[in-house]
Amino acid sequence: MAEQIKATNITWHHETVTRADREKNNGHGAAVLWFTGLSASGKSTIAQAVQAVLFEHGCQTYVLDGDNIRHGLNKDLGFSPEDREENIRRIGEVAALFLDAGMIVSTAFISPYRADRDKARSLCGDRFFEIFVDCPIDVCESRDPKGLYQKARDGKIPEFTGISAPYEPPENAELIINAAENTVEECVGKVIAYLQKRGVLTTG
Ligand code: ADX
Repeated sequence: MAEQIKATNITWHHETVTRADREKNNGHGAAVLWFTGLSASGKSTIAQAVQAVLFEHGCQTYVLDGDNIRHGLNKDLGFSPEDREENIRRIGEVAALFLDAGMIVSTAFISPYRADRDKARSLCGDRFFEIFVDCPIDVCESRDPKGLYQKARDGKIPEFTGISAPYEPPENAELIINAAENTVEECVGKVIAYLQKRGVLTTG
């Protein structure tokens, strides 16, 4: 979709407060934690649990969640490949703004296409951490918290990821979380440890 800037006569204004200034004030680095995985793999649950730990430690943090964002900013989008691309393009841009604002922002979107995730990465530089929430489809399907897999199997939801639409797993994710065999707490522990290792957090 829209890759070109449509408007003319627009000028880029430079900030008086930089990301580095904000990071110094916050006492932690900024980062984008890009959770990707099948529906019901655990992305939102883990992202929310990570956020709770970060918040408790005084971090500036926020979660952009697929289901929620599709109620507002992206309510004009469905699940065709083009709409998913636009969904992820917008979220990549929003995540880049949160990064610039000095925050640790998590995104919890299926984001099934590698190329779309790579575009989001290109906006966020070396503070983009792709986290693959790896959970086999049969486990996701057995959880089926919203009953959507059943509906997809019954042919009531077209283009359902993993059933009738593709999911391209990351090839170079910064972190892979086995969400079928680990508890939510264990998954959160791995994310926090990774943030410490990368110097985003200096303390637990
Ligand atoms: S994405 O593919 O464009 O990244 P996103 O993460 O925003 O998807 O939304 C996925 C959520 O929408 C799922 O968790 C599920 O609750 C719901 N959903 C509804 N229809 C579909 C569909 N056809 N494929 C996948 N998820 C769907």
